[in-house]
Amino acid sequence: MYNLKPETFNFKSVKGISMRQLDEHYKLYVGYVSKLNEIWNIPYLPSNYNDSNPTYSKMRSLKLGETYALNGTKLHNLYFQNMTNGNNTPYGPVLNAITKQFSTLDNFISYITNVGLSMRGWAILTIDSIDNKFHIIGSDLHDTGSVWLSYPILVMDVYEHAYFMDFGTDRKKYINTFIQNINWAILNQRFQKYISLMKSMSMNRQNTCPFGFY
Ligand SMILES: [Fe+2]
Repeated sequence: MYNLKPETFNFKSVKGISMRQLDEHYKLYVGYVSKLNEIWNIPYLPSNYNDSNPTYSKMRSLKLGETYALNGTKLHNLYFQNMTNGNNTPYGPVLNAITKQFSTLDNFISYITNVGLSMRGWAILTIDSIDNKFHIIGSDLHDTGSVWLSYPILVMDVYEHAYFMDFGTDRKKYINTFIQNINWAILNQRFQKYISLMKSMSMNRQNTCPFGFY
């Protein structure tokens, strides 16, 4: 039986976003974890998987719900993690790499801010395995615009549920506030994990994909 538990986060460390806003957001996250458990506890019985029409069917509802709940769970884990517990001064290898690729930190912030403004769901800084470079991916829903084999470094929720209670329609003000709360220690940890993975894989394989697929 699946019984995944929601992670807990130190919302008291967040500056400029109210506890009410964060608590209501957290409830949505808990709901995704709960639905993921429910979906993954459905037994593999013919009665549960042989209704599979692509317009409307039990299987179609199940599969759409599964990716939504799974990505909703993972993305909120990463988002709450990278916006709590301070460490808000940019530093370290991840800052150096961002600056190298985007010319300046301000350019990077301006770019991710505008990706966030243009999307309805998420703006995510990843390192993609196809070129080992940073990319900022935009998506409108948890499971729309997602990419495979791309390693998340910074996850920003731009759904209206993330800010509307505190900021109304002023999404830019919310994004600025989020950026002030970025936990750079977490970003450095993720970046170092990717580098370690890349090194360990390249020792054994003659390819560029740190996950070993191509
Ligand atoms: Fe959210």
